[in-house]
Amino acid sequence: MERVTIEQSYVDFGTREARGVSPAYERLALAVARDEELLALAATLPPGKRQPNLLFGVVRLLGGPVEDPAAFREYVLERWPVISAEVSTRITQTNEAGRCALLLPVLAGLPQPLALLEVGASAGLCLYPDRYGYRYGDRVVGSGEPALECSVTGVEPPAFVPDVVWRAGLDLNPLDVGDPADVAWLDALIWPEHAHRRTRLRAAAAVVAADPPLLVQGDLVDDLPALAARAPAGATLVVFHSAVLYHVSAARRAEFVDLVRGLPGHWVSIEAPAAVPFAGLPEPPDGTHHNVLALDGEPLAWTRGHGQAMTWFA
Ligand SMILES: C[S@@+](CC[C@H](N)C(=O)[O-])C[C@H]1O[C@@H](n2cnc3c(N)ncnc32)[C@H](O)[C@@H]1O
Repeated sequence: MERVTIEQSYVDFGTREARGVSPAYERLALAVARDEELLALAATLPPGKRQPNLLFGVVRLLGGPVEDPAAFREYVLERWPVISAEVSTRITQTNEAGRCALLLPVLAGLPQPLALLEVGASAGLCLYPDRYGYRYGDRVVGSGEPALECSVTGVEPPAFVPDVVWRAGLDLNPLDVGDPADVAWLDALIWPEHAHRRTRLRAAAAVVAADPPLLVQGDLVDDLPALAARAPAGATLVVFHSAVLYHVSAARRAEFVDLVRGLPGHWVSIEAPAAVPFAGLPEPPDGTHHNVLALDGEPLAWTRGHGQAMTWFA
């Protein structure tokens, strides 16, 4: 990524992802985008390690300031060797249980029971859609904690949580909710003002810790067939992923799509349109960043990044 592209990625992050969701990150991203010195440092990071959220998360993990751009600048310039080393070894692994609210309408429509296999599972928090509670406006579904709030337009919210009999996750670097260092990284990736997401992380981590899933270290192409083969007969296999494919090259994405289409069962994706393109999508509800929810390659809805809203296509 060239310097100009890095600058644009900070502008996009600030105006399309953080605006209206995190004033601190909007302010910070736009300040970095105007700062030649910080952009030059970001350009020294390995390709694939230049996402604003990765740098901001590492600074938070190290205890640095992200609310005040001037303090952030000073901190980063002083500690760049430590920060860049940390960024180079990490991946953005934000694990957002709130995305289960986006999966639920699709999962509820599939033949039950379900065998869930998540690629890019991080710590596996999205493998428990049957254990959480949901509030879609006035509609309450399930009674578990955390209670996930999602504003839904264009589809009737589901009436029940799915029946899940098997859950497995595949990740290049599975995180362990029992390891305080892994939880600290997940926490650092949550945006500064999002106290509700920190509470949600703790509640979802408790659910996962009480009944851990099968989490396998591996690649979403090379290691998917072997894990899918372990799903029990008599359950509908659902391979799903959210916010994962931007990590891999276009060629690798194409291989993954071919692979997943050849597996039995169903495929659910929640990805940015740049990562999984679809022809003829309607305009997103507003200028902010939206992902596309799709079932078996058919686009169904625009969704917000942390599961807070979905707009079903007409
Ligand atoms: C942003 S996190 C999303 C986690 C989870 N899907 C969610 O929505 O909360 C992306 C995850 O994909 C994983 N990942 C990236 N490339 C991968 C690959 N080639 N194979 C398996 N996992 C991968 C990362 O390690 C990371 O944990």
